[in-house]
Amino acid sequence: MIKTQSGRMHILHVVGARPNFMKVAPVYRALAQRDSFDQTLVHTGQHYDVNMNDVFFQQLDIPEPDENLAVGSGTHARQTAEVMIRIEPMLTRIRPDMVVVYGDVNSTVAAALVCSKLHIAIAHVEAGLRSFDRTMPEEINRLVTDQLATVHFTPSADADRNLLNEGIAPERIRFVGNVMIDTLLRLLGEAETSLASSLPRDFGLVTLHRPSNVDESEHLQPILEVLTEISRDIEVFFPVHPRTRQRLSEFGFSRRDTAGLHLLDPMPYVQFLGMQRKAKFVITDSGGIQEETTTLGIPCLTLRENTERPVTVSAGTNVLVGRDMARLRREIVSILSGKAKRATIPELWDGHAGERIAQSIEEYELSRVRLQLGPD
Ligand code: UD1
Repeated sequence: MIKTQSGRMHILHVVGARPNFMKVAPVYRALAQRDSFDQTLVHTGQHYDVNMNDVFFQQLDIPEPDENLAVGSGTHARQTAEVMIRIEPMLTRIRPDMVVVYGDVNSTVAAALVCSKLHIAIAHVEAGLRSFDRTMPEEINRLVTDQLATVHFTPSADADRNLLNEGIAPERIRFVGNVMIDTLLRLLGEAETSLASSLPRDFGLVTLHRPSNVDESEHLQPILEVLTEISRDIEVFFPVHPRTRQRLSEFGFSRRDTAGLHLLDPMPYVQFLGMQRKAKFVITDSGGIQEETTTLGIPCLTLRENTERPVTVSAGTNVLVGRDMARLRREIVSILSGKAKRATIPELWDGHAGERIAQSIEEYELSRVRLQLGPD
């Protein structure tokens, strides 16, 4: 049931997909520690498998969603439209003071579009990131969400610059740091003790789910070839995202194409964090994992031509290898011979971003007449 106590600011959070869950947890917790907020958690149901969803809520200690819109999978248009159609009557009924949206998934942009037409203030957590690659669905989601947001909570200084360049007024931008890292630092101890004793001392870890890598067999095949080659030198664990699992079977890849790789189901957050912590290297196309490996000081090789998280390259452990599989092989050889890139942790990735967001929302409440819905 929706909470409707009066006299307190009503914040409604919208989450939908796996990477949203680590982001809402610290914000929800920090707001709950203050006296001035009622909170409602809405899950769009974009991700619904137990391994992509329930287990994250349990481990991250996020309350059961107050509402689940159960939109499920579909094309981009269908999924985005379903979230809009299902969330509109709820927002009309509840009329929260502010809706907080996270990251760059379809659920994020869908909720932002509906809020803006209902004149409900929008806070975007992880605002301002740009890959400058409009072939990525997430880049479209980021651009549109940031145009609509009332308050932009940014994880890094480059994000502030991007927003300013796009004409967002400086008083709407708050550099608060990285909420994902709040969750990482809170659960790292637990993650380290969660590892199976059967795990080898040295291993590499792989995740892959971007359409640009997995949706065409001519892109996926060379990646699998190099991974199996690498697995002759070091054990390789590969928790497989449902999208990738589906493509592997659609393209008729057999066990021979993934020989030597330990293919696993998607892993719970805590265990996956433990695996990252102990890995010799991580190969990925995820956004969040580029940030987590930088924080943990673990070498990260990203199978993308660009990143919306450039600080992980300039300051962190991240190396963009794109589709250059020879380069991937060389980077692995170099890491295994002890020559990994040195790194520092970006500013404000300190475990307190959620608190800064709560503080800022409280301040926003005090100045809302000035900020809310007014022209830039
Ligand atoms: C989505 C996000 C992506 C994020 C990723 C993390 C968008 C545009 N993409 O991509 O930014 O990095 O989540 O996982 O929002 N499926 C299941 N069970 C589930 C969820 C999905 O089987 O619980 C399968 C379905 O076949 C579905 C496919 O995975 O069609 C893709 O799911 P979808 O939510 O469309 O996008 P992701 O690839 O997960």
